[in-house]
Amino acid sequence: MISDIYDVIHRRRDVRGQFTGEPLPPGALDRVLGAAHAAPSVGLSQPWDFIVIRDRGLRESFHRHVEHERDTFAATLDAEAADRFSRIKIDGVLESTLSIVVTYDADRGSPAVLGRHSIADAGLYSVCLAIQNLWLAATAEHLGVGWVSFYREAFLQHLLGIPAGIRPVAWLCLGPVTHLQGVPDLEGHGWRRRRPLHAALHADRWNPGPTTTQD
Ligand SMILES: Cc1cc2nc3c(=O)[nH]c(=O)nc-3n(C[C@H](O)[C@H](O)[C@H](O)COP(=O)(O)O)c2cc1C
Repeated sequence: MISDIYDVIHRRRDVRGQFTGEPLPPGALDRVLGAAHAAPSVGLSQPWDFIVIRDRGLRESFHRHVEHERDTFAATLDAEAADRFSRIKIDGVLESTLSIVVTYDADRGSPAVLGRHSIADAGLYSVCLAIQNLWLAATAEHLGVGWVSFYREAFLQHLLGIPAGIRPVAWLCLGPVTHLQGVPDLEGHGWRRRRPLHAALHADRWNPGPTTTQD
């Protein structure tokens, strides 16, 4: 089950269109959540919670909201980009086996969160590390994950009864997939290409580096 870490990192994909809807293998959900919960966190605050959503009605309500937000985004695009966007699937909410909403509680461990006094966002960084752990563990389990961010936080808070002050950070679709694609879906659709590593590297100080046609 445990593949080489680099293999898992490079096989990981954001999944929208390849979910089968089949049940998860026994124990897989616990292992994936355990991996998320093992993430590093600022001041050992572990500011995350995980809401596992199987309810069809909740998923349909969320999906309708996502479709609305998709339209809102599409309306901001020029005709050419809107046409390209119209062919891109942005979620697998209804097709995946289940969803997990990951939340952030800024009050966990406060007021003296060790290491967060000067960088308030360090708490959010911690939640994102838990999400990445979950994503990689799911990939090692040959499951797919799709991060959906086409939503308003207030809508999701109301839908799931999340208390005030706790922020939903991600809606993650999870489940078995037919396969993981070799390239990101957005690249496949000509929306955007991945930046080569050398374009992101700086030596000693910030320098412009090689320019690309894309940026
Ligand atoms: C914070 C965040 C939000 C994202 N939101 C969405 C989303 O709403 N819909 C979607 O289809 N993909 C979403 N993605 C997936 C990205 O489009 C994807 O990671 C990127 O295109 C690279 O593809 P890969 O993850 O397969 O390497 C999101 C990813 C991140 C990290």
